[in-house]
Amino acid sequence: MNHLENKRIPKLSDAFGAAFDIGAAVNPRTIERAGGLIAHHYNSLTAENEMKFVSLHPAEERYTFEAADRIVAFAREHGKKMRGHTLVWHNQTSDWLFQEADGSTVSREKLFDRLKSHIDTVVSRYKDDIYAWDVVNEVIADEGSELLRPSKWLDIGGPEFIAKAFQFAHEADPNAQLFYNDYNESDPLKRDKIYALVKSLLEQGVPIHGIGLQAHWSLYAPALDEIRAAIEKYASLGLRLQLTELDVSMFRHEDKRTDLTAPSEEMLELQAARYEALFQLLLEYRSHIDAVTFWGAADDYTWLNDFPVRGRKNWPMLFNERHEPKDSFWRVIKQASQV
Ligand code: GLA
Repeated sequence: MNHLENKRIPKLSDAFGAAFDIGAAVNPRTIERAGGLIAHHYNSLTAENEMKFVSLHPAEERYTFEAADRIVAFAREHGKKMRGHTLVWHNQTSDWLFQEADGSTVSREKLFDRLKSHIDTVVSRYKDDIYAWDVVNEVIADEGSELLRPSKWLDIGGPEFIAKAFQFAHEADPNAQLFYNDYNESDPLKRDKIYALVKSLLEQGVPIHGIGLQAHWSLYAPALDEIRAAIEKYASLGLRLQLTELDVSMFRHEDKRTDLTAPSEEMLELQAARYEALFQLLLEYRSHIDAVTFWGAADDYTWLNDFPVRGRKNWPMLFNERHEPKDSFWRVIKQASQV
């Protein structure tokens, strides 16, 4: 869809302007291929992969900022806000961080020194551009009674690595809003663990300002009541909330079908109804929610193509593969107009 056609379509972020920001996760390829759409509809950007540890810091003495800088330049050019994603994670983190040159495990002290130096460098570099960071991503265990998932961070640093990361980020940019970010955030068991972790951080005086609900959802799950209960529980901590990685997969978790080359009419209708109900709920909690960021911009590119089922396409966004608004888009706009 060309730029002129785009102009006749209401801007998503304007429609929700009074309630919350509307963001998109982008990468250097999507800002090339969907730059017009992104500039038109979204007022906040997150780098999909380019600010993760492994992308920025592949070797101790070497930082690679080119791709992240390109995204920041695009955000500046178009006057977009930016969220930083992510400083501490068990995935996409360089092996050298946890090792000595001889391959042995680093000491706890050295791990924290390296973490501080990484956070100082990255957060300071983007201080003028990034207003909020996902400081710690996905440390809670999905199942069972353990609070924290096993990781090298936990093995070497002990549970204090979480508080340290927030302290270092706060020292590097005292104005940045600092988030804990996780998925399956509306599942009651995991929700209660996320709540317990964040509550204990607050009790220790750790500088944390918000909870990111990743919101990788589907047509079928989680139930609206579970999302509502999660929002209320997190909000009861007095923190700001954001949806940080919203998408609505067409498939149930157990569904492994790979035969579809286009979404069925029924799927599109269910998705439109689901998005409408979701945004109605989010608007109800607008006093707690500052931003809703989609994990992508349109259906032509999404991490859900080939994941978790290889050879399967998915259509989780508000815009189709040609960047045209889907029914989902119009139903979401309708909700915004009723505010
Ligand atoms: C998690 C991470 C994101 C991204 C998605 C999948 O949700 O937080 O950075 O990697 O998985 O794309």
